[in-house]
Amino acid sequence: MNDSVSNTHRNRPGDDVPLDLVVIGLGYVGLPLAQEAVRSGLSVVGLDVSESLAESVNAGRSHVDDLADADIGQMVADGFRATTDASVLDDANAVVICVPTPLSDEGGPDLGAVLSAARTVAAHVHPGMLVVLESTTYPGTTDEEVRPLLEASGLRAGVDFHLAFSPERIDPGNPLFGMRNTPKVVGGHTPRCTEVASALYSRFVDTVVPAAGTREAEMAKLLENTYRHINIALVNEMAKFCHELDIDLWDVIRCASTKPFGFQPFYPGPGVGGHCIPIDPNYLSFRVRDQLGYPFRFVELAQEINSSMPEYVAHRTKSILQQRGTDIAASTVLLLGVTYKPDIADQRESPAVPVAEALRALGAHVIFHDPMVDVWRLGSENLTRVADLDVALAEADVSILLQANRDYDLEHLASTARVLFDTRGASTADTTVRL
Ligand SMILES: NC(=O)c1ccc[n+]([C@@H]2O[C@H](COP(=O)([O-])OP(=O)(O)OC[C@H]3O[C@@H](n4cnc5c(N)ncnc54)[C@H](O)[C@@H]3O)[C@@H](O)[C@H]2O)c1
Repeated sequence: MNDSVSNTHRNRPGDDVPLDLVVIGLGYVGLPLAQEAVRSGLSVVGLDVSESLAESVNAGRSHVDDLADADIGQMVADGFRATTDASVLDDANAVVICVPTPLSDEGGPDLGAVLSAARTVAAHVHPGMLVVLESTTYPGTTDEEVRPLLEASGLRAGVDFHLAFSPERIDPGNPLFGMRNTPKVVGGHTPRCTEVASALYSRFVDTVVPAAGTREAEMAKLLENTYRHINIALVNEMAKFCHELDIDLWDVIRCASTKPFGFQPFYPGPGVGGHCIPIDPNYLSFRVRDQLGYPFRFVELAQEINSSMPEYVAHRTKSILQQRGTDIAASTVLLLGVTYKPDIADQRESPAVPVAEALRALGAHVIFHDPMVDVWRLGSENLTRVADLDVALAEADVSILLQANRDYDLEHLASTARVLFDTRGASTADTTVRL
């Protein structure tokens, strides 16, 4: 087999030499990956189905939180370009697929984009090429879904071309860990496929961790996210009864965290958000149920508890208002932070939406503020951010801190709001009511 991936040479897209890498899907995962590869001197082209996205990237505009326009501008200056033309794959030594895997109606991953990208690659796969899937999915996808599509080309994985899975671990907004210093798990279809894929990632990631195979690499990602999901559910359930028992769970967690071994702190909140924690564990329980016929009970319980939190927050709000003699049906509630985590603009699967819906179902008038969001999509409506935060804090009957964005001065919020209901345990003011 031609192992062209491991002995590629520095070149620029458009030169008459093979490209080092094509990244399929230029979103939250694909763009930072392409950036790190370009920084390390690889020749990289981004392939996306969206014409407007490719144009905007080529014009130096970013649409993801972790990259500024200047970063994209630098990538383009260094030879990166985005395209919708799949013929770039003809000259590529490697391709990494980073397309979305949303939840399907049946509860498993919707593999539509992955299969479509795999078919695109299949039309251009050539001897020696490395194909890596990064999209999060259930174990077996690379081998059972992607491999047959690629092999329809007549070439065989592990014989004519290399095939691997490498889970994406990106944590948008994390200032400490990015693409380069987050170890990369890589599992190949054969040991040689693992070697070739590891050689590619070693060019722009500090530590590569070989997995036994594609299934182990796929499962490692799901274990990581299921672990978080379950532990968040544990503290969410404890938050409910600690409130009843008049025990300060935040202080409990602070104390328990001083144990130097065997304990990792997790914190309660208004519900889990984003496109990993609330979604990925479902891929696993779907697979277990579908293939083995029994439930993955931990995941199903965690799902039930975590998805009950928005409703719980709304009912706690109702009783906070009641204690102050205000009927929630005649109240205005200010939500502070509507994205799924602090300091980013990404609203996908944010628990702020079910919190707002539950408050509205109780008759509350909901307004919002978020330093990163001007217009918030709530169901079929677009809500505009309050014009003046201080005025809104003073006017709202209750303000609920959903995300402790770094732009928020918590002491100021607590002293300006009529009452601050803090679902993140971030405010230490005596007047704050904590989850
Ligand atoms: N965003 C994260 O924090 C994160 C973290 C870990 C894993 N993941 C996983 O990585 C994968 C990608 O997620 P994302 O957040 O980058 O998605 P995204 O929606 O930000 O970007 C995906 C891009 O793929 C493009 N695309 C869709 N179908 C395509 C196709 N057939 N061919 C070419 N391009 C196509 C879209 O136009 C879009 O630009 C998902 O499986 C996700 O679960 C995401």
